[in-house]
Amino acid sequence: MAEVVIVRDEEEAGELAASAIADLLRARADAVLGLATGSTPLSTYRALARRIDAEGIAVAGVRGFALDEYVGLPAGHPEGYRQVITREVVEPLGLTPELIRVPNGDPATIRTAAEAYEAAIDAAGGVDLQVLGIGRTGHIGFNEPGSSLASRTRVKTLTEQTRIDNARFFDSIEDVPMHCITQGIGTILRARHLVLLAFGEAKAEAIAAAVEGPVSASQPGSAIQLHPHATVIVDEAAASRLEHAGYYRHAWANKPDWQGI
Ligand code: F6R
Repeated sequence: MAEVVIVRDEEEAGELAASAIADLLRARADAVLGLATGSTPLSTYRALARRIDAEGIAVAGVRGFALDEYVGLPAGHPEGYRQVITREVVEPLGLTPELIRVPNGDPATIRTAAEAYEAAIDAAGGVDLQVLGIGRTGHIGFNEPGSSLASRTRVKTLTEQTRIDNARFFDSIEDVPMHCITQGIGTILRARHLVLLAFGEAKAEAIAAAVEGPVSASQPGSAIQLHPHATVIVDEAAASRLEHAGYYRHAWANKPDWQGI
């Protein structure tokens, strides 16, 4: 079972996730991070930037792989995940741009992009810690309901719900691409530690299904139950549909200091 940590708010969640990442970076100068985009991980990236700065953590050798990218946005589009990762992660953390990969969503090369991305993750020795958000549809990465639990990086069609949810980043829903290239669920499960974050009532159902529901391709987030080291960090609202919330609080309150997440 995933470890579930119920925190006060996004800031506390960000501090907790950032402390786990900082521990990893101190232990391994060439650590491999799996990077989510969207709103959810922003407090983690901000907290991590503060720690790197305050504690003088060396990050020049840190490598990274984004989860996904839209297909067909013009190069340099501000909402393309290459740009988002540069703006929200690479620059504030001071990472080395050449070591941070994002799947290539250019339609001209899309047939080979997925295989190349999987090969690059393998060549890096796999992802040490994967930051994840979850969509209202239950997606992790952009693996929408029905995605194979063994899937690898490939092109997927976004659900209308996800396009509606992501329209806030664009001028209108028509501008949200229909397709994406995303790490598969099988790819995500190969990371050595999964840290799934979720905030707000709108995520409560997806979190309950991911943590406590049956493992099913219909609920891609539920794949985390197959992972030996998954940490779920949620605020009270996102935790509001969890049947065993009382137990998760009890376990966290009594966790030995030396254990970490
Ligand atoms: C982003 C990603 C998605 C998001 C999810 C939640 O790279 O793969 O799974 O994590 O759509 O998005 P936010 O955080 O914006 O609610």
